[in-house]
Amino acid sequence: MPVLNPVERTALLTAALRAAETRRGDRLYEDPYAAGLVGDAGAGLLAEIRAATFPPDRPRSLPSTPDYNAIRTRFFDDLLQHAAHAPETTQIVLAPAGMDSRAYRLPWPSHIRYFEVDRPAVLEFKADRLDGVRPRVDHRTVAVDLTADDWEDRLVAAGYDPSVPSTWLLEGLLYYIPEADAHRMLERVAAISAPGSRIAADIVNQAALTLPHMRGLLDVFAGWGCPWVFGTDEPEELFESYGFDVRAVQPGEPDADFGRWPDPVPPREVKDVRRVFFVHGRRR
Ligand SMILES: C[S@@+](CC[C@H](N)C(=O)[O-])C[C@H]1O[C@@H](n2cnc3c(N)ncnc32)[C@H](O)[C@@H]1O
Repeated sequence: MPVLNPVERTALLTAALRAAETRRGDRLYEDPYAAGLVGDAGAGLLAEIRAATFPPDRPRSLPSTPDYNAIRTRFFDDLLQHAAHAPETTQIVLAPAGMDSRAYRLPWPSHIRYFEVDRPAVLEFKADRLDGVRPRVDHRTVAVDLTADDWEDRLVAAGYDPSVPSTWLLEGLLYYIPEADAHRMLERVAAISAPGSRIAADIVNQAALTLPHMRGLLDVFAGWGCPWVFGTDEPEELFESYGFDVRAVQPGEPDADFGRWPDPVPPREVKDVRRVFFVHGRRR
């Protein structure tokens, strides 16, 4: 089994959170593979996040990571399923895929070609853990670093066609990517997305990287060796500058609540509050 570096290991955290959600009676989705994907590492990862997020001696000030992750998974499940049923969608790209199991747990129309992009160690680890489980879609893995020079060529070699519309999901990625690399990544995704392609991503605001009361969570990720380094207060402008017309929805708003977000969502003009956005839209 390959050893995962700190940022690769965050894929195990999301699997642990999905396994925990799956055990809830009021779960927002069911991921029967998450527990097997994370294995024994799950309990420790959840305990660390829980200790930071729900301190026993004072009220919670951090976003609830379990609720966030549940809403995020469900929001993007629905978005991808909706996109997949549109006739123009023939290719879906998860970049990065991590331990995500949507290819295995959701039904997909037969015209979809589904790409999972992540670093080699992650995809190898996942293949080992899923040994014998069959994807429910024409599924292709692309083992690359998304900051490397040639990842688009590797994606095309795996069967991606830049000339027809695609749907991209950048989930659980952008906070870990230095600003210049994040911009370059969006530019490169835009360059191989035909007009009408869909894009979706989650991204935090600036205050989430700096507010003193975020320290507890930021320190967990920094302590693991994968600090959060990038966020923006204007996600619509960021994506717009690369040719995408998008909306940014926050968990707790009507389209992204699912009865689970525990905190108020102050109006956008209030700057000094932590936020996370689900960005979604289309390539012009
Ligand atoms: C928090 S996980 C999210 C994975 C998946 N989208 C999910 O929600 O479960 C972050 C993932 O980003 C991947 N990643 C981070 N930087 C990357 C890079 N430069 N190239 C490729 N993958 C990267 C890691 O390997 C890891 O699998």
